[in-house]
Amino acid sequence: MWTGDNQAAGVAGNARALEQELGWLESVVQSRLARHFGPPAQSEPPAPPRLPPDSALGALLQDAALDADERLVLALALAPHLRPSLLDLLFVRNRNLDRGFSEFGGWKGRSHGGFLPTAETAAFLMADEDLSRRTQLRRLLDEDAPLRREGLLRLDHDAPGEPWFSAALHVTAETLERLTTGVSRKPDFSAGFPARLITTRLTWDDLVLDADALAEVHTLTTWARHGRQLMQDWQLARAVKPGYRSLFFGPPGTGKTLTATLIGQAVQADVYRIDLSMVVSKYIGETEKNLAQVFDQAQHRDWILFFDEADALFGKRTATSSSNDRHANQEVAYLLQRVEDFPGTVILATNLKNNIDEAFARRFQSVVHFPMPDADQRLRLWEGLLRPTGRLAPEVDLQDLANRHELAGGAIANVARFAALHALQAQRQRITQADLRLGVAKELRKEGRVV
Ligand SMILES: Nc1ncnc2c1ncn2[C@@H]1O[C@H](COP(=O)(O)OP(=O)(O)OP(=O)(O)O)[C@@H](O)[C@H]1O
Ligand SMILES: [Mg+2]
Repeated sequence: MWTGDNQAAGVAGNARALEQELGWLESVVQSRLARHFGPPAQSEPPAPPRLPPDSALGALLQDAALDADERLVLALALAPHLRPSLLDLLFVRNRNLDRGFSEFGGWKGRSHGGFLPTAETAAFLMADEDLSRRTQLRRLLDEDAPLRREGLLRLDHDAPGEPWFSAALHVTAETLERLTTGVSRKPDFSAGFPARLITTRLTWDDLVLDADALAEVHTLTTWARHGRQLMQDWQLARAVKPGYRSLFFGPPGTGKTLTATLIGQAVQADVYRIDLSMVVSKYIGETEKNLAQVFDQAQHRDWILFFDEADALFGKRTATSSSNDRHANQEVAYLLQRVEDFPGTVILATNLKNNIDEAFARRFQSVVHFPMPDADQRLRLWEGLLRPTGRLAPEVDLQDLANRHELAGGAIANVARFAALHALQAQRQRITQADLRLGVAKELRKEGRVV
């Protein structure tokens, strides 16, 4: 098990580097507290350790070119995950007031027993009461500074109106994983991260689309590939808003999602899908924060964002009867703003075009119509989906199916699956015309159409 051993060695090396880093953090906390409570001392704070560059942390520090202050903030955010007791010293109570020390910051988790750091905690460790150092730290934690730009840290501001430094300091799951196991995993869908990576095994050759739509899609692909260059080298940034927003509209199953993933494939960008019907209807105070996370990460990683069921956004923003409505409206306003400001590629998909008012349409650089396929296109879809199986009975007449039934690609794919299953269940090695007809009937019924 050569790779296994290698991996184990990697994990052990990563652990040693993290131990050194946490040891350093611990000595900084102790010396800082000693200075806080003891007589004024002249001693310098402990210097950060030199880490082996072949450890994940060592490599990351080099890649992101983090300085000692940034390292300290990162170590602070890592501590609750890796050595939960390390920060317990900061729970010490102020005897005079019988409460914690405001200057230590921190917050208490719901199930985690230890001290969870905030930006205030970092300020305490780094800045003493020196305001200019505090301002420096504020900069280190800015969105465009390496710690956040590289997606290492997240700040959560839970209580609007409260001081900025009360924001909770989080290391991202991705970074934690990378520093411990050495593997970078793509972020996963969760309540806190309402986006999902979508991919396809199909290629452009499989896509059946009319010429107009294809031309729009190619322009969009060119932007995704060269947009940055155009903005910078061609000085376009002076004239146009950053980013490219495209609206895909058309009936279900006409290839909107497929096209978005193909564009990602072509420009080697990850495509993340956000289901807006879910996001907007859920009415949870967390939504905005979770979406902010998606946008932040996407921005720094050149993801393509694909918003599905985007009609949730165009819904006429009608009278706000309940606080629920008001909340949803706020959510929508926030989303629209972020979509409009996003410097990368955004695709919104919907089945309805009528709902979209002109003011809204003007915000898009392109609007692509995905129509129902005509008979020729349907034949290509049937062929593309079924020929490669090599299991069609000789009498199968795809042309006939294509001529007779107005079905979109998604429905045709469903028929193919059904027909193959049906053949298998009947213990046949070939798909017959009867299998396919049954599948078609099933699809038509599903769509509420008569057979
Ligand atoms: N134009 C097309 N060319 C090739 N295959 C297609 C096309 N449209 C649909 N398909 C097939 O149908 C499947 C489903 O299509 P897709 O999910 O892209 O539809 P959609 O337009 O996003 O539908 P919805 O509006 O329901 O989200 C695809 O994975 C593909 O196999
Ligand atoms: Mg879709």
